[in-house]
Amino acid sequence: MKIDFLGIELIADEDVFRPTLISQYCAENVPFADKDVLDLGCGIGPLAIYFKKNGANSVQGCDVYKKHIEFAKKNAKKNNVEVNIFLSNLYENVENDFDIICCDVSGVQSSISEITGWFPSNVPKADSSGANLILKAISGSKKHLRRNGELYVCATSFSDLHLIERELSKNFENQWKTFFKTKIPFSKRLLKNVKSIEKKTYIKENDNYFWEFILFKAKNTI
Ligand SMILES: C[S@@+](CC[C@H](N)C(=O)[O-])C[C@H]1O[C@@H](n2cnc3c(N)ncnc32)[C@H](O)[C@@H]1O
Repeated sequence: MKIDFLGIELIADEDVFRPTLISQYCAENVPFADKDVLDLGCGIGPLAIYFKKNGANSVQGCDVYKKHIEFAKKNAKKNNVEVNIFLSNLYENVENDFDIICCDVSGVQSSISEITGWFPSNVPKADSSGANLILKAISGSKKHLRRNGELYVCATSFSDLHLIERELSKNFENQWKTFFKTKIPFSKRLLKNVKSIEKKTYIKENDNYFWEFILFKAKNTI
């Protein structure tokens, strides 16, 4: 199947994660121009390709799921962009350091992954807190950030935000903040299951339900 991501044509199939609104918010908010960028959890490559096409100096993208790497490489080739795509469990095979790390690893609690079907069955998912992968991505990031390099972390109200904020403080002291935040209306599947969803993970306004996307920014000042 073919997908359009902000004007970039991508190929995908039923077994892979397809770019979402979160991917779009990253593309629109992460300041990648002229920077050396790591796309951590690159999926089939939408962000890596977008960053390189739109003025990043260099882009590397990695993911732990082999099929994502295969698609991301094909998609980069199809779009004529030079990005270095490789298989890696978080930073395991990452050798360089970067101006920008854009972290969009799976960050939705497992019960929500099941309800929504956002993650096809073979795509690696977060645990019941929605935060286990994000926490590791934060704690491993400083080794791969240059001085004044920046980490951008995608999270949602379906991730344990308290754990994430604590990890950001532990690693970056007060050099982090919420950079962008927006409310997203519940999909039909979320609405259908609203009774089984933890109240603290959503906002109810009149009869409308929303979850939140949060993009954290942390700066390595050392
Ligand atoms: C929410 S998807 C985002 C994919 C892509 N950034 C996009 O916008 O379409 C999360 C991605 O994190 C990847 N992932 C999960 N666990 C990972 C790990 N331990 N190391 C690297 N990537 C991982 C998944 O395979 C998936 O591609």
